[in-house]
Amino acid sequence: MYGTRRGTLRFLLIASGCSMLGKSVAVRYAQTAAAAAVQPRIKKFQVYRWDPDTPGDKPRMQTYEIDLNLCGPMVLDALIKIKNEMDSTLTFRRSCREGICGSCAMNINGGNTLACLDKIDSNLSKPTKIYPLPHMYVVKDLVPDMSNFYAQYKSIEPYLKKRDDSKEGKEQYLQSVEDRQKLDGLYECILCACCSTSCPSYWWNADKYLGPAVLMQAYRWMIDSRDEFTEERLSKLQDPFSLYRCHTIMNCTRTCPKGLNPGKAIAEIKKMMATYKEKKAAAV
Ligand SMILES: *[C@@H]1O[C@H](CO)[C@@H](O)[C@H](O)[C@H]1NC(C)=O
Ligand SMILES: *[C@@H]1O[C@H](CO)[C@@H](O)[C@H](O)[C@H]1NC(C)=O
Ligand code: SF4
Ligand code: SF4
Ligand code: FES
Repeated sequence: MYGTRRGTLRFLLIASGCSMLGKSVAVRYAQTAAAAAVQPRIKKFQVYRWDPDTPGDKPRMQTYEIDLNLCGPMVLDALIKIKNEMDSTLTFRRSCREGICGSCAMNINGGNTLACLDKIDSNLSKPTKIYPLPHMYVVKDLVPDMSNFYAQYKSIEPYLKKRDDSKEGKEQYLQSVEDRQKLDGLYECILCACCSTSCPSYWWNADKYLGPAVLMQAYRWMIDSRDEFTEERLSKLQDPFSLYRCHTIMNCTRTCPKGLNPGKAIAEIKKMMATYKEKKAAAV
């Protein structure tokens, strides 16, 4: 009886000791987890600000601090968080947030890219610097004026052109699998202008030089087997500026957030142009 009680007591002591130990371990784990969850990861974002509607406003950098634990992974998530929770006056373009619309193109930490595809650098001691696309007129904050870029795109007639439109409305645009493949790496361009605005030739001659994005689309229509205006398209680029301002510096290809190669497309146009000029000279 006594032995049983002692045994019981010892059992109880062991049991309670165990449960106390278990409890303290559990508490310690919980505390660690809570500490990790609430330990803020503050990151600085330095953002270009300029508002033409505020008289006398000068361009400046504004710093915002964001806890990365409470923010999505991409630079666009940080900008949206700033606009929603900290400063609704911050202005930038965005739409799809998945690298398809091309509207969130900007200069982040020195390179042109899409904010929605650019992961926030997790190094907390390094501020993320965000500017509008370089060498463009600024409408406000991170919004560049794209008018010239779009006018240049329009100038290359970026659509299928046929000599004979009498078959309008009927199936007439057949293309072999091989010919269709020639458009791969070209049709994926989302016209974000990251490439053109990284090109020094475009910086200095944006009025006369078409720039890599628009030239790549010109090429896309030149090599489309269904298009019948290749020579006219080449002929329009013969002047010293439209095409020939490209000096193969290759910033364009390096910066393209879609992994395309506009520099190569321009080189291909130059080859086609050489052939076209020879042919024209021979015909004279
Ligand atoms: C974080 O950024 C700082 C400041 O630029 C730099 O000195 C440091 O080496 C970086 N740390 C890592 C882990 O890259
Ligand atoms: C383009 O290239 C030049 C020279 O290589 C470089 O100084 C410049 O930073 C580059 N610009 C961009 C936006 O990539
Ligand atoms: S390769 Fe041509 S278009 Fe591309 S960055 Fe250089 S100069 Fe500009
Ligand atoms: S080629 Fe690349 S960087 Fe240039 S506009 Fe197209 S998607 Fe943007
Ligand atoms: S929001 Fe559409 S490409 Fe970034």
